[in-house]
Amino acid sequence: MRKTLLGFVVSPRKFGNSELFIKELYRRLSGEWDLKLLRLPEMDIQPCRACYQCLFGEMKCPLDDDFQFILQALLESDAYVVAVPTYLLGAVSSLKRFLDRGLSFYAHADQLWGKPAVGVAIAGIEGMEGYTRLNVDSFIKLTLGDHRGSAVVYGALPGEIFLKEGGKETALRLARALETGEREKDPSIPVCPLCGGDTFRFLPNGQVRCMLCSSSGPYGWNEKNALEIRTTAGEHPLFLTLQDVKRHAEWLRGMKGEFMARRKELKEVTQGYTQVGTWLKPKKDEK
Ligand SMILES: Cc1cc2nc3c(=O)[nH]c(=O)nc-3n(C[C@H](O)[C@H](O)[C@H](O)COP(=O)(O)O)c2cc1C
Repeated sequence: MRKTLLGFVVSPRKFGNSELFIKELYRRLSGEWDLKLLRLPEMDIQPCRACYQCLFGEMKCPLDDDFQFILQALLESDAYVVAVPTYLLGAVSSLKRFLDRGLSFYAHADQLWGKPAVGVAIAGIEGMEGYTRLNVDSFIKLTLGDHRGSAVVYGALPGEIFLKEGGKETALRLARALETGEREKDPSIPVCPLCGGDTFRFLPNGQVRCMLCSSSGPYGWNEKNALEIRTTAGEHPLFLTLQDVKRHAEWLRGMKGEFMARRKELKEVTQGYTQVGTWLKPKKDEK
């Protein structure tokens, strides 16, 4: 049976590197696939208003924009790939604008969980991708996909990623990872033993925190003199199992009751700040 690969092109540039990468990866798939493409920067995705309505009742975001359309395409896909340009050392903002609406994913956790996914960060200058790859990995994790691999490829001009060494090979590698189901591993790179993340924050007392799943723990050198990360899951691991997803959604729902119970105490805090500062607004809003 034919399957659908959904490509998130997170670049405004037509025939840019992100778009070409996804099309090349699609060409390298061996099975019977159809490719559907979404250009995120063209979509109307309004900012999350933190109303939490997507967690209660019919569990649907009240905002009327293209978010549901994109979510539906994701739900209907068999696998997905995301290609994200680096802007100012991080992912282009359309990616985050979409992800900020992600509490809506919990209503579909069973359907989204474990969908095969790979991603690529594109950067114009070698080594200047900043935290874009972490953004790509987080996108896959927060859309509840089965992370099968990610990479950084370099190229500034549209098409340049395939004029440099490694661009097409990376597309082939990720296509294979997507189809075979095995997460790519490079034994020379220390990763979080829980989630496979490779970005860490150093904490006091010889500890590190994984920036992908938020777990922390010590690090040290093993018998082969290689750096080893020994993170263990904390209270809110993001998300190692489907149970973690459901538990987190339940915890968020519980915050409504907590808010109601502590409303008075919280109001006393916020009221102390009502008269502080002058809000600046652009002229068009004053009309
Ligand atoms: C506003 C802007 C900021 C950028 N910032 C970075 C950067 O911080 N680091 C980098 O390596 N490349 C940066 N680039 C280059 C793009 O990542 C690069 O051109 C990439 O190929 C764009 O992907 P696309 O062709 O899919 O649009 C920037 C490009 C733009 C337009």
